[in-house]
Amino acid sequence: MDTRSLPGTGPGPVIIEKPVESPLSAEERGRRTASPAFGTAMTEHMVSAVWSEDRGWHDAELLPYAPLLLDPATVGLHYGQSVFEGLKAFRSPAGEVSVFRAEAHARRFRSSARRLMMPEMPEELFLAAVDSLVGHDQAWIPDDPGMSLYLRPLLFASERTLALRPARAYRFVLLAFVTEGYFGPDQRPVRVWITDEYTRAAAGGTGAAKCAGNYAGSLLAQEEARERGCDQVVWLDPVERKWVEEMGGMNLFFVRGSGADARLVTPPLTGSLLAGVTRDALLRLAPELGIPAEEAPVSVADWREGCASGEITEVFACGTAARVSPVNEVATSTGSWTIGDGRTGEVTLRLSEALTSLQRGELPDPHGWMRPVPPSGRAGGA
Ligand code: COI
Repeated sequence: MDTRSLPGTGPGPVIIEKPVESPLSAEERGRRTASPAFGTAMTEHMVSAVWSEDRGWHDAELLPYAPLLLDPATVGLHYGQSVFEGLKAFRSPAGEVSVFRAEAHARRFRSSARRLMMPEMPEELFLAAVDSLVGHDQAWIPDDPGMSLYLRPLLFASERTLALRPARAYRFVLLAFVTEGYFGPDQRPVRVWITDEYTRAAAGGTGAAKCAGNYAGSLLAQEEARERGCDQVVWLDPVERKWVEEMGGMNLFFVRGSGADARLVTPPLTGSLLAGVTRDALLRLAPELGIPAEEAPVSVADWREGCASGEITEVFACGTAARVSPVNEVATSTGSWTIGDGRTGEVTLRLSEALTSLQRGELPDPHGWMRPVPPSGRAGGA
């Protein structure tokens, strides 16, 4: 048995490591990760940890990936006390592996848990779990620069009770899968449907938390978008149904102007939007590329008129899964329009390139966003 603790944290969080006895061969890993559909090419391990009222966080272990055994009265299944994260590990051209903004994801995980009356996982434990899993399973990340390892931390209420109150026991699991772009490898532009019937989040609700229910509640509108020939749904604010908030599970950016006058606008965090980590990164990277960026409300009318007048030249969505994804067409119940010339714009391409180059370690990392994770001695077979 191998253990791993964070240096400098004293007794700190320890992940007990019990890796699989016979890791898969490089050939078998390659076969399982060739063009995988999003969320299907799981690696061989997972981290599991438990929280209980009397012991706090304990039993943090790296284990072979395996199904969980759950009581039918597991409260998280019934009442949705369940929050998650999504972050990614990238391989640099030199072969080193780093995780993008792990600390920011650890903070958001805590804030989502707080909103749902769940125990907040200490940042050191979250990071130790990430280091342990990425250390062991990084051989799964293909050399292909378009691919990465998506990490999915999940925390759910595991107490066996159907009482409607904050649970007294919780389970944490961290999984990893190999992925390319959420919309496939080529980042093709997507067509969006602006729903005026459904909203993603209520005023005072859980929109700012990354909780399971927000995603379940989005599926019907997403299906409505699909029936209208669109790839994704766009959400408006829940009060006036006028202001653009998000696209599916991703944030949105608008480009006003072009060339040297181009500037970025993204809807402000009003409480019903998720504070995307990629959104935050782009708000900081864009000015470094000479593109001013601001948070300001954008209405549907402004979007439509801005595209007609040529003032809005590009729109893109962003998120851990989606990376930077161009949007080229908009459909609503009262009409549809094209953004720019319908092709991926220059600002979108520049930001996409800047972000992925930084994530892949091809550019300096002045913000300290990349967390290097060395391979564990027990990583999978060569
Ligand atoms: C992500 O971008 O990581 C997300 O969480 C969206 C996902 C639900 C597909």
